[in-house]
Amino acid sequence: MNQAGKTNADTLWTIDQGQGPVVVLVHGFPLDHRMWQRQIDALSKHHRVLAPDLPGFGRSDLPPDAKLEMDCYAQSLAELLDSKGIDEPVHLAGFSMGGYIALAFSRKYADRLASLMLIDTKAAPDTPEAAKGRDELAKKVMETGTQVAAEAMMPKLFSQVTHGRQPEVEDRVNEIMLDQSPEAVATALGAMARRPDSTPGLAKLDIPVLLIVGQEDAITPPAEMKKVAGAIKDAKLVTIAGAGHMTTLEKPGDVDEAMLAFLNSLD
Ligand code: MLT
Repeated sequence: MNQAGKTNADTLWTIDQGQGPVVVLVHGFPLDHRMWQRQIDALSKHHRVLAPDLPGFGRSDLPPDAKLEMDCYAQSLAELLDSKGIDEPVHLAGFSMGGYIALAFSRKYADRLASLMLIDTKAAPDTPEAAKGRDELAKKVMETGTQVAAEAMMPKLFSQVTHGRQPEVEDRVNEIMLDQSPEAVATALGAMARRPDSTPGLAKLDIPVLLIVGQEDAITPPAEMKKVAGAIKDAKLVTIAGAGHMTTLEKPGDVDEAMLAFLNSLD
């Protein structure tokens, strides 16, 4: 199978590439499936990789009058699997906001998971101050456009090495962010501000979990991910040197290697 496109008006636009055990890649904020390009190519050699655009992002529609919560994004992933007739447990990878959604999925649909990969993410909710900042940013995005969100994110995303030596990675991420609609961006900001604490659910996870974090991640730092790993029964934490938050694009080879080693140890 090597195809992309909507199966019907109600499901997410998704890359669907390769054959084998199913791996679902859930992108971060405010991005789309393109942040996973290298992982899609690497993993789809031996797996069926689904890389959807979340509601409103990329080529997926935002439901009218959406006031989404993490559970709604998780539900859209379950519906995507249903629409493709996938009922076997899947390997679910979530990057940052995608990790918040993956954790929501693990609470709602535990029996649909074979493993979890949590990448540059965290389990704790926003502080009241951070949530207020998100609501203010959402308002500005609706008034002036997506650029203001991209400007807020860009300085926090990359390691020193990437900043100095890989300007094309920064340009690519900025370009993907600017492609997103203000409505999708504002909706996701609201959903992140209201997301529940996922920490209590960590001890209940009874599947293997891989955690990956960039050593210089300023948004979801290694110390935060160490805490998450420490609360999970079967967890392995990989720290990527020379990467900030955007590990999948800053150090794609290292991320591919960690994900493939983990998946190969399971299949
Ligand atoms: C992301 O990369 O998805 C966001 O930085 C997550 C966040 O802002 O909490």
